[in-house]
Amino acid sequence: MNAFHYYTPTHVYFGKDGADKTGDYVRAEGASRVLIVYGGGSAVKSGLIGRIEASLKEAGLAYESLGGVKPNPLLSFARKGVETARAFEADFLLAVGGGSVIDTTKAIAIGLANPDLDLWDIWMGRSKPVSAAPVGAILTLPAAGSEMSDSAVLTNEETHFKAGYGSNLNRCRFAVMDPALAATVPLYMRAAGIADIMMHTMERYFIPGISCDLTDEIAEGLLRSVIRNGRKILADPTDTDAMGEIMWASSLSHNGLTDCGRGKDFSIHKFGHSLTAMYGATHGASLTCIWPAWCAYLYDGAVERFAQFARRVWDDKEADDTKAALTGINMTSDYFHEIGMPLTLAELGVHPTDEEFSLLAMKTTKDDTVALSRIRPLHAKECEEIFRMAQ
Ligand code: NZQ
Ligand code: ZN
Repeated sequence: MNAFHYYTPTHVYFGKDGADKTGDYVRAEGASRVLIVYGGGSAVKSGLIGRIEASLKEAGLAYESLGGVKPNPLLSFARKGVETARAFEADFLLAVGGGSVIDTTKAIAIGLANPDLDLWDIWMGRSKPVSAAPVGAILTLPAAGSEMSDSAVLTNEETHFKAGYGSNLNRCRFAVMDPALAATVPLYMRAAGIADIMMHTMERYFIPGISCDLTDEIAEGLLRSVIRNGRKILADPTDTDAMGEIMWASSLSHNGLTDCGRGKDFSIHKFGHSLTAMYGATHGASLTCIWPAWCAYLYDGAVERFAQFARRVWDDKEADDTKAALTGINMTSDYFHEIGMPLTLAELGVHPTDEEFSLLAMKTTKDDTVALSRIRPLHAKECEEIFRMAQ
């Protein structure tokens, strides 16, 4: 097991009607002026924003609302949010939504606390913030895990580049998780969320050569639970028991727990971010469409990991490691198909030209300046091969 630093400072308030106590949770953070950030309107339509406003009012807190965050959120909107937060003199930022809203709110929090730094410079690693305003999240869609993660992902619409910024400054002070809030999530988004949660776990799991028995068992249990309960929430999103399992898994898959002692790879995410930046793909789908090609290219560098995955997650009885590894990959692909996720670029509806394949690879490797993957290094050339294999 490698050395690690595990830090999860987020208060989790899990259970029915937690949103009605938002005022108490914000007050416990010592704040008094709250900027509520939300998306395209689902949280207004469901009455959730009204409930949150009532709770803030009852707690004697001032608030203002900023709606309009789009999926795969834009840098320009985050910049606008910083101005709104500053004008309102907000001392607390409340995200009401899924990953896009939470990430935007995290960016606003960093922008607000670092007026002398440019947000995109921070996201590109060119400058380093020292603080962030406090953020709380009311989760409405289990998927990205942003409610407990150290990351926030933005798209720069001018450069068509999507990038995450990882820092403990991005940790939410609290996350409210009421499974009933996710009952209205559309079918495709539920499926994309399930795929994303699995990917966050698998993008840590396949790194070879490190013994991490407990971390493995946590990851394998998480995956089995998500596969099982994923089927249930696709059939019935009002099944709050199953949705609760998925919601908790979304947080645990990306709060650092499943990389203790091993770290993370996250190369599939880099491929996915390039696809989203260029073609607007839904995040979870941008990952599954690369999965079979990524596995075909790399699995022989981590056969034992893939074989263990097949046996423990998919209950494969095959004794031969290579055969088991391939079965596990195929069973995962079959599951993605079963839940309606694409396995190729064509199934995603994307047909890159030769020039676009090369551009995708350059974006994925930051102009061939970084090598991806902890199985085998992937430079721009290898990334382009994988993109082409995924056609
Ligand atoms: O905008 P509204 O109207 O709220 O509709 C949203 C949106 O259209 C809808 N939705 C959310 N909750 C709903 C609902 N519709 C009905 N009922 C509800 N209860 O779902 C749509 C998608 O929302 P979005 O927030 O974009 O989805 P998700 O949670 O999958 O977030 C995706 C974003 O998170 C990033 C992704 O790259 C992408 O930009 N990620 C963030 C991570 C992090 N911060 O740690 C890690 C992830 O790997 C990921 O990269
Ligand atoms: Zn993800």
